[in-house]
Amino acid sequence: MYQNEGAVAIAQDTLRLLADRRDLLLGAAVDMHPLSTEPRYAEILSREFNTVVAENVFKPHFVWAGPDDYRWDNADRLAQFARENGMALRGHTLVWHQAVPAWLQAGGYTSSEVRRLLEDYIHAIVSRYRGQVCDWDVVNEAIAEGDDPGLRENSFWFKAIGPEYIDLAFRWAHEADPNARLYYNDYEAEDMRPKGNAVFALVKGLQKRGVPIHGVGLQCHLVNGWRVTDEHRQNVRRIADLGLTWQVTECDIRMQLEGGAPTREQLETQAAGYHDVIELCLCEPGCRGFLCWGFTDKHSWIPEFRQGWGAALPLDEEYCAKPAYRAIQRALES
Ligand code: G3I
Repeated sequence: MYQNEGAVAIAQDTLRLLADRRDLLLGAAVDMHPLSTEPRYAEILSREFNTVVAENVFKPHFVWAGPDDYRWDNADRLAQFARENGMALRGHTLVWHQAVPAWLQAGGYTSSEVRRLLEDYIHAIVSRYRGQVCDWDVVNEAIAEGDDPGLRENSFWFKAIGPEYIDLAFRWAHEADPNARLYYNDYEAEDMRPKGNAVFALVKGLQKRGVPIHGVGLQCHLVNGWRVTDEHRQNVRRIADLGLTWQVTECDIRMQLEGGAPTREQLETQAAGYHDVIELCLCEPGCRGFLCWGFTDKHSWIPEFRQGWGAALPLDEEYCAKPAYRAIQRALES
């Protein structure tokens, strides 16, 4: 147990041990820079989590340098880290409108050429990590925002291939690794509002057409004060009722940092949110995993992308356990 508030997270029962007992994939997104430069980063990551996902280095614009030209170095390093530490590896992501290589966008390719290139790419990367990546985010964030969201029609993939790019991506991934579990992943799809409904309709449609899909990734980039409601339970139950699994794939709970450091009250509020979301995973049917988008506030996308916001993860910038860490621990123990 903890010696004091400031101690580095040294629990007698690590989160990893507790998650293993609950048969839950408990993971964190990995930033490759601290992984290789900060021993504490690697040490805490492998001690506290049983699963890793790359924050960036499995994305096409990092890997795919040209037709039949792949840069595997960083992705291989993460795969090796997972192997050496007995951790599961999640693949993020094969098709995302924000991760299209510049050469592809500027290449003036015809529709059938783009289709063929994507097929080759998906076959190449999924085959390379066959037997190691257990779950792939095949398509990420294909649904638009708004009151009545449909597919993002301004996505490179939609414009080049048409709406069928989604079905095709799942089929190609399945061909390359029939044992991998294939996910559709999106944000703000956690409840019964229009985006959640649109994601549900999309995956139901994929299933109906016989497309190999196994689950839904609910990103859960949340704002402090978030609590679970019946709507969240209803949403995950309807996904499970389809026979699909679901995972919390990118959880963080950001807060507004007025004077720099978070207040005690903000941290306790955040802890309640983390407790709720992990309890949702443990108590509702169909949940396979819970992953945070990072694990220490020292390395998080939030301050860069959401000015004035931060402190979104379970460990602080000194790698010390926050109340959120202990809330996850309590939920896993209960
Ligand atoms: O690696 C370069 C570095 O060499 C360069 O000096 C620096 C200058 O800005 O940029 C670095 O790359 C950045 C990379 O993060 C690594 O820090 C990219 O510009 C930046 O776009 C990239 O942002 C990532 C973003 O996805 C876009 O790919 C974030 O780290 C990552 O957290 C975020 O993750 C997404 C999920 O994939 C999908 N769901 C939402 C989530 C948060 O936006």
